[in-house]
Amino acid sequence: MGYNIAIDGPAGAGKSTIARLVAKEKGFIYVDTGAMYRALAVYFLDRGIAPEDTCKIAEVCKSAHVSIQYENDVQQVYLNGVNVTGRIREEEVGNMASKSSSIPEVRAQLFKLQRDLAKECDVVMDGRDIGTNILPDANVKIYLTASVETRAKRRYLELEEKGETCNLEEIKKDIEDRDYRDMNRKIAPLKKAEDAVVVDSSDMTIEQVVEKIISLCK
Ligand code: DC
Repeated sequence: MGYNIAIDGPAGAGKSTIARLVAKEKGFIYVDTGAMYRALAVYFLDRGIAPEDTCKIAEVCKSAHVSIQYENDVQQVYLNGVNVTGRIREEEVGNMASKSSSIPEVRAQLFKLQRDLAKECDVVMDGRDIGTNILPDANVKIYLTASVETRAKRRYLELEEKGETCNLEEIKKDIEDRDYRDMNRKIAPLKKAEDAVVVDSSDMTIEQVVEKIISLCK
């Protein structure tokens, strides 16, 4: 078993930025599990399947194989051998992933891949159910959160920087909907593991959050 750091939390809490920096500092591999759900979402969207068509998603996901590789330490996600990393950040893909990830067959498809990675390597793995379900024996568990307002503002600035037109209220509503879905689904809902340390990044700098997590690693 590798040394495992599990970071869970709602969308926009800064998990990927923090996890990447912690991994770099520790010399560990960063595993972004959200990217895997997003890759499967690309598969469903490409087949014109509606997020509500759970039976179809459960059926077709068995022929979607996700794998990851690293190029210059950056995770690349492959879907049936094709690199889909460039597509997974689209808004449409995020929305599909948020819905399709509540389907048991979709989660089962990624369970082994995530467990095996943590078995073989020292990892910082982020997602929604890492500390509770995928790596219940992780050495360090973090529940990284921030207020809805902070998360919406961060997303707004990110989109603005990319030159995309956006509306703060719409972003906030989207985040609230996504939180609700992630926290209230029947299977592997987002919740703090009993032994996780809560870190609220609302009033913390990125450096402070990274330092806090590193200080918890023995
Ligand atoms: O972290 P993210 O926004 O890239 O994740 C996209 C969606 O995937 C998110 O809405 C919930 C789902 N997800 C999940 O259910 N379990 C994980 N371990 C990671 C992501």
